[in-house]
Amino acid sequence: MSKDRRYFIKAGTMDCLSLLVKDSPASSSQTLNKVVNKNQMSKRFLGSGNHRIEVSSLGLGCMGMSFHRSYIPDRDCSIRLIRKAYELGVTFLDTAEVYGPFTNEELVGEAIKPFRKHITLCSKFGFDIRDNKMTGALNSHPVHIRKVVEASLKRLKTDVIDLLYQHRVDPKIPMSDVAGTVGILIREGKVRHFGLSEAGPESIRQAHQVQAVSALQSEYSILTRDPQKNILALCEELGIGFVPYSPLSRAYLTGYINERTCFNQANDNRHTLPRFQPEAVIANWGIVDILTRYGNERGYTAAQLALAWLLVQKPWIVPIPGTTKTAHLQENTGALDVRLSERTWSELNEEISKIYITGARYASPPTH
Ligand SMILES: NC(=O)c1ccc[n+]([C@@H]2O[C@H](COP(=O)([O-])OP(=O)(O)OC[C@H]3O[C@@H](n4cnc5c(N)ncnc54)[C@H](OP(=O)(O)O)[C@@H]3O)[C@@H](O)[C@H]2O)c1
Repeated sequence: MSKDRRYFIKAGTMDCLSLLVKDSPASSSQTLNKVVNKNQMSKRFLGSGNHRIEVSSLGLGCMGMSFHRSYIPDRDCSIRLIRKAYELGVTFLDTAEVYGPFTNEELVGEAIKPFRKHITLCSKFGFDIRDNKMTGALNSHPVHIRKVVEASLKRLKTDVIDLLYQHRVDPKIPMSDVAGTVGILIREGKVRHFGLSEAGPESIRQAHQVQAVSALQSEYSILTRDPQKNILALCEELGIGFVPYSPLSRAYLTGYINERTCFNQANDNRHTLPRFQPEAVIANWGIVDILTRYGNERGYTAAQLALAWLLVQKPWIVPIPGTTKTAHLQENTGALDVRLSERTWSELNEEISKIYITGARYASPPTH
């Protein structure tokens, strides 16, 4: 085992262990009012060896500020929110060409101008977009990847993307071509690190052989535990960091959604997802009840426990909750202050494991 890899495991394990303590009930005011400044937010490593990246232990998903989460806030509010996140120590920002499309990268590019060099900027390619609309097709053709990266760099107002993900595996293009193209972009200095999203084991191995993969970004939360089947073990084996997207299960785990919740159908994918149909929302509610009960007894919110649950799974996991609200951002950073004993986590897991999850996460499963 390389020295770097040993360090990756050791450093990360320490970080994870620090979240496990004897139960000491914290008052909710302690948890919610704690001011976290940039120097205080802990860091984690995604990946190992030369391809590892040090990032803040929580990231910020910026998608919802422009796309798929109903109402789009005023642009200045979102810029202030992103800057507030930086002030709080969140230096791992997630966007993609397709969010908007394009407008989210433009927003993020504007917001990060004052501190671009001090953050890890992530974007993604892989969808076919024509006349400002997604065609529904995938496109990871090497020529297309290069075009997308040039356009993303302009929108992000930067000369390098720190972590570039393939958004979805494109079955038409061999993974070796995709990884090879990103490898060239890395050698040209336009990209620093390579990531995949929702890729299956075979694609991950193929990609990693050609160009080291620093992070896999896939859906993972208490409600969507699929990566525990075979993906997390593979990431550990290969030294690839894991970035859970939709870590709050698109707001469901916060308790803010119910069976009557109305989504803005023109800009929200949740009304199309089986798990957001009224019967599934009701059937899965036991999970929210458990999080709320454990949280209320200890001074944490359901959202904080849902994020902390991810953080204790592995030291190289870095969730990227999305929000359009400063108060939610502040609340979410409080997940780093959650301290539960190993025993309490196992009791919570035991209760959660008894709940059968109703409804698929997507109407048609992503390509692998
Ligand atoms: N790779 C991929 O295919 C993929 C897919 C989806 C998402 N992503 C990335 O992952 C990020 C996060 O995913 P997501 O937005 O789908 O899901 P999420 O982070 O699980 O949930 C976001 C939703 O939760 C709400 N929320 C956040 N904090 C809250 C709190 N403390 N209390 C109550 N509500 C709260 C937000 O509403 P408010 O605005 O009201 O706070 C928003 O509607 C995205 O921004 C994007 O960068 C990647």
